[in-house]
Amino acid sequence: MAKMEVKTSLLDNMIGVGDMVLLEPLSEETFINNLKKRFDHNEIYTYIGSVVISVNPYRSLPIYSPEKVEDYRNRNFYELSPHIFALSDEAYRSLRDQDKDQCILITGESGAGKTEASKLVMSYVAAVCGKGAEVNQVKEQLLQSNPVLEAFGNAKTVRNDNSSRFGKYMDIEFDFKGDPLGGVISNYLLEKSRVVKQPRGERNFHVFYQLLSGASEELLNKLKLERDFSRYNYLSLDSAKVNGVDDAANFRTVRNAMQIVGFMDHEAESVLEVVAAVLKLGNIEFKPESRVNGLDESKIKDKNELKEICELTGIDQSVLERAFSFRTVEAKQEKVSTTLNVAQAYYARDALAKNLYSRLFSWLVNRINESIKAQTKVRKKVMGVLDIYGFEIFEDNSFEQFIINYCNEKLQQIFIELTLKEEQEEYIREDIEWMHIDYFNNAIICDLIENNTNGILAMLDEECLRPGTVTDETFLEKLNQVCATHQHFESRMSKCSRFLNDTTLPHSCFRIQHYAGKVLYQVEGFVDKNNDLLYRDLSQAMWKAGHALIKSLFPEGNPAKINLKRPPTAGSQFKASVATLMKNLQTKNPNYIRCIKPNDKKAAHIFNEALVCHQIRYLGLLENVRVRRAGYAFRQAYEPCLERYKMLCKQTWPHWKGPARTGVEVLFNELEIPVEEYSFGRSKIFIRNPRTLFKLEDLRKQRLEDLATLIQKIYRGWKCRTHFLLMRKSQIVIAAWYRRYAQQKRYQQIKSSALVIQSYIRGWKARKILRELKHQKRCEEAVTTIAAYWHGTQARRELKRLKEEARRKHAVAVIWAYWLGLKVRREYRKFFRANAGKKIYEFTLQRIVQKYFLEMKNKMPSLSPIDKNWPSRPYLFLDSTHKELKRIFHLWRCKKYRDQFTDQQKLIYEEKLEASELFKDKKALYPSSVGQPFQGAYLEINKNPKYKKLKDAIEEKIIIAEVVNKINRANGKSTSRIFLLTNNNLLLADQKSGQIKSEVPLVDVTKVSMSSQNDGFFAVHLKEGSEAASKGDFLFSSDHLIEMATKLYRTTLSQTKQKLNIEISDEFLVQFRQDKVCVKFIQGNQKNGSVPTCKRKNNRLLEVAVP
Ligand SMILES: Nc1ncnc2c1ncn2[C@@H]1O[C@H](COP(=O)(O)OP(=O)(O)OP(=O)(O)O)[C@@H](O)[C@H]1O
Ligand SMILES: [Mg+2]
Repeated sequence: MAKMEVKTSLLDNMIGVGDMVLLEPLSEETFINNLKKRFDHNEIYTYIGSVVISVNPYRSLPIYSPEKVEDYRNRNFYELSPHIFALSDEAYRSLRDQDKDQCILITGESGAGKTEASKLVMSYVAAVCGKGAEVNQVKEQLLQSNPVLEAFGNAKTVRNDNSSRFGKYMDIEFDFKGDPLGGVISNYLLEKSRVVKQPRGERNFHVFYQLLSGASEELLNKLKLERDFSRYNYLSLDSAKVNGVDDAANFRTVRNAMQIVGFMDHEAESVLEVVAAVLKLGNIEFKPESRVNGLDESKIKDKNELKEICELTGIDQSVLERAFSFRTVEAKQEKVSTTLNVAQAYYARDALAKNLYSRLFSWLVNRINESIKAQTKVRKKVMGVLDIYGFEIFEDNSFEQFIINYCNEKLQQIFIELTLKEEQEEYIREDIEWMHIDYFNNAIICDLIENNTNGILAMLDEECLRPGTVTDETFLEKLNQVCATHQHFESRMSKCSRFLNDTTLPHSCFRIQHYAGKVLYQVEGFVDKNNDLLYRDLSQAMWKAGHALIKSLFPEGNPAKINLKRPPTAGSQFKASVATLMKNLQTKNPNYIRCIKPNDKKAAHIFNEALVCHQIRYLGLLENVRVRRAGYAFRQAYEPCLERYKMLCKQTWPHWKGPARTGVEVLFNELEIPVEEYSFGRSKIFIRNPRTLFKLEDLRKQRLEDLATLIQKIYRGWKCRTHFLLMRKSQIVIAAWYRRYAQQKRYQQIKSSALVIQSYIRGWKARKILRELKHQKRCEEAVTTIAAYWHGTQARRELKRLKEEARRKHAVAVIWAYWLGLKVRREYRKFFRANAGKKIYEFTLQRIVQKYFLEMKNKMPSLSPIDKNWPSRPYLFLDSTHKELKRIFHLWRCKKYRDQFTDQQKLIYEEKLEASELFKDKKALYPSSVGQPFQGAYLEINKNPKYKKLKDAIEEKIIIAEVVNKINRANGKSTSRIFLLTNNNLLLADQKSGQIKSEVPLVDVTKVSMSSQNDGFFAVHLKEGSEAASKGDFLFSSDHLIEMATKLYRTTLSQTKQKLNIEISDEFLVQFRQDKVCVKFIQGNQKNGSVPTCKRKNNRLLEVAVP
């Protein structure tokens, strides 16, 4: 939902006056009272026109929440109560919408809240400007640069626990849309003397304490540091801990911020190494050592610390040691080396520490600038925020205060210039007559300090550069001469001797009447601090460091770039940078925040009027109000003015139709405000005196009260009438509803009564009918029951009669049967006795035979033909039957056995039978052949490719194919031959080649001879005169003699139908060609083991020895 636009004004609910311009009467007292009143009511901000005065509350107030940011966003400056956000919003909007570069100048003394104010401005701008990942990163980097710079540039002082010890100006750059692009930071004059020495109750820069408290053990070891603060001379110990400050946690915040800002890890580490080196430098101590020429020379007491510093920074130890003992002065071509005494050595050490630290700080600022600089080249709009030390007046004021006060003097000047300029411009813009206003212009004081010929800074530089002895006193003398006549310069010994008797002015001091008050400066240290001298030997030693960062901090140490010209003095440097700053600020639209510190105790709720009064004076705030009020105290655009006061005049209330300006004219005429009290500008009405405004405000308040009463009256009347009407309407509605309800209820009652009566009558009628029906039904049931009983009685009587009759019939039949049995038994008794003996015998015999057969059935032996078992005979008279039965059974089971044979098996058994008939009990070899199956073709010539030829030559069926030994008839030696028997022939072939050697038709075989012994020799006799018999008979030996002889016998029989003669004898004749040789078998001779041997004994005898 859109936020409702409420027109408000600064003047609403004002505590005191929100804008000091409206203060009446205006005096220092009323000014302070107004501030105090507001401060007591938590109103810490008050305006002087567009300048914001901020009083440090020293406690957190709930006025910076995001809701507050929203409240002030896009609202006019005077619309809400004074706030730093209003100023920020005004500045941001005129930057974004009117393309005017802005600067926000924040001034005030230490602890007044400048830094906090600058952070509030930045955070407000960050909250209201554009959003998006990139923009957010820029914002984050800009905001996170603060913790880093605060760690290195802030310290606890007696005035402020987080005092900025440097001046800071930050340009935030925006694009045309108002989105932040980046920023540039400039730093001014770091208070580097703090590094080596701190006043009582103050601390060194935060970073030293943060590092020692927050670093891990590992990091400390790496940096060669110890956690104990008391180990370091440069750290003040009495206030090392600050209440409510957690150094360790801040260290982590700083490291984190460095990371966000864009420091690489190694960069952050280098920075800490330099910090460590500075800290350790303070621990180097010197002792005097007498030399021959009577002068003292300094020597380092304990070189351990020096060694560690050198390790940390990569500097050659001897180089650094020498730089602490000697000083080389170069002039033209000459180089003169002088020894340093102890005091000079300490000076050199401290100068080095200060330089190292302040250069590191400048490097940090540059490094941050590198990270946060805008990445685009588009035209940028700039908002500068200046957080610079305010005017300082201490008991002892030195060079630093002089410089700072000079800077404030310049800022005051620019303030006067710009404020007056703005005022004047507005008058011209609004076409209002301009009147000259008297105010103090501090240009004369600025001139006293910065004038190039006789300004104090120029004098100081001159003194520093002058040859000869230069001291702070000679400088003061010079001032006394040159500035004696200046109205704002005061010195006891000045030439015009105006102050000769002024005891408040010590001799070694001079006093300047600043715009904000008189300040007494101690001249001591001015020359030294302005010189800011670092011996060249030290800068050269630093340049030689192996540590890249340290080396880069001392470019002048490079011997190649030796510059005999003195570096610019601190004073002139500062003057130059202030001049640049002023130039920069002049191009921008200024916005002022004047910070005021309410008390010295850093405590909330305490408002020390004297302290505030002092600040108001030196900030020139009354001056500021006067300048602002010079012409007209108050101005306001016509529209809001008419809107605010239109109720004071009948013509303009409630609506004015014409232009706003005419409306205001009518209004002011009507109210009879004197014409000299106001002027009409182009767009604004200018009111000369605040009194007039307050009169208007009072009238408005009164009128508002009247209006409120009127509104109340009308509202109350309207409210009562509305209430009454509502009640009446309600009453009618309630009555109507009630009547309806009552009628409804009555009707329901009558209806239910009718129903009851009706139901009673109906019930009575129904019961009557029911009664009648029940009576009728009961009569019917009685009749049926009586009939049933009658029929039952009848049936039972009949049943009883029938049962009696049946029992009588059964008894008659039984008696008859008994009678008949008796009669038959009497008749047959005599026949039974005559035939009993024979019948019993036959029966018994029959039973015995029956039993024998049945038992035999169970005792039958196995079906194997060779099983010899047979049950024993039970009765003698069954003997022949028993034997016959055994024979029949055996024949039967043999038949059964034979029936299982295949044709081939039958053939084999036939052959076996034939062999048995031929050789059983005739040849001793026979029994061993019984178990051998007759295979015939032992040699598978079909399958063996070696015998292919042989196989092809034989066309008939081969009955025997076996290797046999053919006995040589000449010497009895044997050779292997293939023995083949076919249907018609007997063939012999070579075992190796398969070539047929002899072929004998079976018809030519006449006889086969063999011994009766256990050998395989046999002779095949051939028909005399046949072709085959030309070489004589054959004599063979074979392992399968029985089979061969049998098969030869059977084949011859089937082919020639003649029985082959088989002679079994241990001596037989064999025809060898023409001779007949006797083959004789003899028993014994175990020489050759179990193999029979054959030997030709003589022409007529061949002896076969059988084992
Ligand atoms: N608006 C504020 N609300 C709450 N506390 C504040 C506010 N402004 C300042 N303070 C308190 O005052 C202390 C000092 O403020 P700050 O550091 O801004 O002073 P300074 O003007 O910058 O001082 P110096 O010149 O020493 O740097 C802060 O640390 C904070 O505690
Ligand atoms: Mg500060």
